[in-house]
Amino acid sequence: MKRSIVITGGAGFIGSHVVRLFVNKYPEYKIINLDKLTYAGNLANLKDVEDKPNYKFVKMDICDFDAFYKLMQDEKVDGIIHLAAESHVDRSIKDPFTFAKTNVMGTLSLLQAAKLYWESLPEKYEGKRFYHISTDEVYGALKMNHPEGITPPFTTTASSSEHHLAYGDDFFYETTKYTPHSPYSASKAGSDHFVRAFHDTYGMPTIVTNCSNNYGPYQFPEKLIPLFINNIRHKKPLPVYGKGENVRDWLFVEDHARAIDVIFHNGKIAETYNIGGFNEWKNIDIIKVVIKTVDRLLGRAEGEDMNLITYVTDRLGHDARYAIDSTKLQKELGWEPSLQFEEGIEKTVRWYLDNQEWLDNITSGFLDTEVIDTAKIAGLAKLPSREVLLAQVLGAFQAPIAAFARAIQAIVDNGGEPVADAAAEAAEPEAAEAAEPVAEAAEPEAAPAAAEAPAAEEAAAE
Ligand SMILES: NC(=O)c1ccc[n+]([C@@H]2O[C@H](COP(=O)([O-])OP(=O)(O)OC[C@H]3O[C@@H](n4cnc5c(N)ncnc54)[C@H](O)[C@@H]3O)[C@@H](O)[C@H]2O)c1
Repeated sequence: MKRSIVITGGAGFIGSHVVRLFVNKYPEYKIINLDKLTYAGNLANLKDVEDKPNYKFVKMDICDFDAFYKLMQDEKVDGIIHLAAESHVDRSIKDPFTFAKTNVMGTLSLLQAAKLYWESLPEKYEGKRFYHISTDEVYGALKMNHPEGITPPFTTTASSSEHHLAYGDDFFYETTKYTPHSPYSASKAGSDHFVRAFHDTYGMPTIVTNCSNNYGPYQFPEKLIPLFINNIRHKKPLPVYGKGENVRDWLFVEDHARAIDVIFHNGKIAETYNIGGFNEWKNIDIIKVVIKTVDRLLGRAEGEDMNLITYVTDRLGHDARYAIDSTKLQKELGWEPSLQFEEGIEKTVRWYLDNQEWLDNITSGFLDTEVIDTAKIAGLAKLPSREVLLAQVLGAFQAPIAAFARAIQAIVDNGGEPVADAAAEAAEPEAAEAAEPVAEAAEPEAAPAAAEAPAAEEAAAE
């Protein structure tokens, strides 16, 4: 059957895996990847499918109602798989407005455009589907009744014998009440409610899924696993929130993409499905697994990089434990994770080590002022070209710009190495302060996660 499907957020982490799967598996479908290409979107994630005849990329903001409505008409869209979102919890704590705008208003804009277009057709909603991808974080946090972990089989409803140790007596179910704690999860919760409201009010055929933490190739390196793989490789500090005790449930991204395929085609309208791997890990334990795997694959002594672990001040409102019960999806639609965690982590680490160029290309543009804290802690900030740097600081530092440029020039003249007191020497006294962040950002080994520094991404809770 021919279909015309828009996948939003397809140049991001999970979206690129979904696009790849659909383009390759369904040559008879037209797959339209709609993405604004924010800092998190990267067309290099889809190099292998960009020339396929059933693939099309459209650069568009999901908040642009008119443009999306026209796209629906032009492409006769009958299915929407919606992943585009602002997805980084730390960013949402700094800038909640952007999250409300993209995640809530953007989703509403897509819903309204789809409603108007589909209702204008003679067959109306027949054969149509609006599938919204959400997160387990909307459910809030679970108690950690068993901080040391229980050995399977659990007293709970977990259905496989291959789980990691569980840390509490309860899971998130499809019926669990929404209790979002971060601006990110609040914005996702808001969008989920709108999607369900469009079914209940207008009869739109919608589905919502809530998934646990994903890991795998093509994840933007502000998230824990790619960030730490890169830092271990370069012997840079590994900033861990609090004591690293928070528990997350991890799923290999390709398994999430397979679940999305199954649910898009066979899921029941108006239903919610949880997606997870019954695979709970404390952040600190997952970090140790990553360190050992990187060390082994790089031919280092396994565990020699444990000393890179650096504990930093905990994230505000950091949820203790997430754990998804995905029994409904397994029982009703027959989906289950394909990979053991150890296998998935090995595959993931190998991919990042083999794709250093992909990582370097991303991190070379990774110095806008919004993300500079994360970039510094991640040790990813590089000395950009003088022009780029000047353009970036112009808006914020108009008055001392000339002095600032002299400070940069001193660093450039010194082969990119920081110059002791470069700012003070080159700049007027009032400009020295402006030059300081640049000198820090340019220092490759400068990013030790000081105890007071804003922490790097949590154990990749998105
Ligand atoms: N990463 C996880 O562990 C995880 C887990 C569960 C659910 N989710 C959900 O899955 C979805 C994808 O997550 P991800 O980790 O791949 O995110 P990501 O940040 O890697 O990618 C998001 C994509 O959305 C695009 N985008 C952002 N704002 C846009 C806008 N206004 N218009 C059009 N495109 C825009 C970005 O350019 C990027 O390509 C999100 O909805 C997220 O809430 C993620």
